[in-house]
Amino acid sequence: HLPKFVEVVEVGPRDGLQNEANPVPVAVKVDLIDRLSAAGLPNVEAAAFVSPKWVPQMAGSSEVMAGIRRRPGTVYSALVPNMKGMEAALAAGVGEVVVFSAASEAFAQKNINCSIAESIERFRPVAEAAKSAGVKLRGSISVALGCPYQGAVEPSAVAEVVRRMADLGCDCIDIADTIGVGTPGAVQAVFEASAAAFPMDKLAGHFHDTYGQALANILAALQMGVASFHSSVAGLGGCPYAKGATGNVATEDVLYLLHGLGIDTGVNLRAVVEAGDFITRAINRPNNSRAGKALLAK
Ligand code: HMG
Ligand code: MG
Repeated sequence: HLPKFVEVVEVGPRDGLQNEANPVPVAVKVDLIDRLSAAGLPNVEAAAFVSPKWVPQMAGSSEVMAGIRRRPGTVYSALVPNMKGMEAALAAGVGEVVVFSAASEAFAQKNINCSIAESIERFRPVAEAAKSAGVKLRGSISVALGCPYQGAVEPSAVAEVVRRMADLGCDCIDIADTIGVGTPGAVQAVFEASAAAFPMDKLAGHFHDTYGQALANILAALQMGVASFHSSVAGLGGCPYAKGATGNVATEDVLYLLHGLGIDTGVNLRAVVEAGDFITRAINRPNNSRAGKALLAK
């Protein structure tokens, strides 16, 4: 009873690149995004309209959005923390805005400088603006499987934030394992709790692969009816200043898993492998996709 079609949300241009210390040229980001959309990815997280003081790498987001070749069939999504970011995102023509909070108060303070409750209030006008502009609205919940500051996170705490994001009118909600500590049993417990507040088939898994559990976690969530997963081409990501932090699970590996299960994604794996080769060379990073490396060696 696995889903027949799974939506793969490519977050490499945002999550994969946001922690790069050296500025990645706009032209390189645009080239990457165009390669990913050409590969057939239905959603590419292309930008973040956040404070450039907090995340300098995302400062050129408007230029990136202006430079891409828009493919019908790909939604270009972007993070938006507040109305200032929303104005910039709408001016740039994003198709989906992502409001992001956390399942722990400590992480919310570190990432967005406010409490969870304050973040929801901050998102209310963003959500209204998204509805009146006809733009999709996604909610993202960090540290849903564990927090670097607080430690363990209860599934009920995640479900409570899911409920608040559902109230905002989110079309879909991401359950994020920011530090990649989750294992399949814990993932199933969090999705089960969350599905009491929001439909399972509108929840998405956003798994970082720090402990090598992400593919197992995806399979565990698939078996519960989750049909949307985030990944980063070549497994890009991770903060050079945060010890041991790694990127999202690699898109190539997720596609190899899904296609092997007979699940359709609409994505051309070979084209994503080539996009991974392109970006890792361009920014001089190792390719962290096992499937990508194997297919490049063929
Ligand atoms: P703050 O400092 O409390 O905000 O930051 P503020 O409203 O007091 O404004 C301070 C300054 O920032 C002002 O400028 C504002 O204009 C400016 P100044 O007057 O000092 O010159 N500012 C902005 N500039 C551009 N765009 C904006 C914006 N907002 C304010 N949107 C704030 C609060 C939320 C803005 C800040 O904390 C922030 O931008 N945080 C974003 C952090 C971030 O992007 N983190 C990474 C993405 S989340 C993630 O990776 C997790 C995820 O992958 C899931 C997972 O794995 O967990 C999604
Ligand atoms: Mg992330």
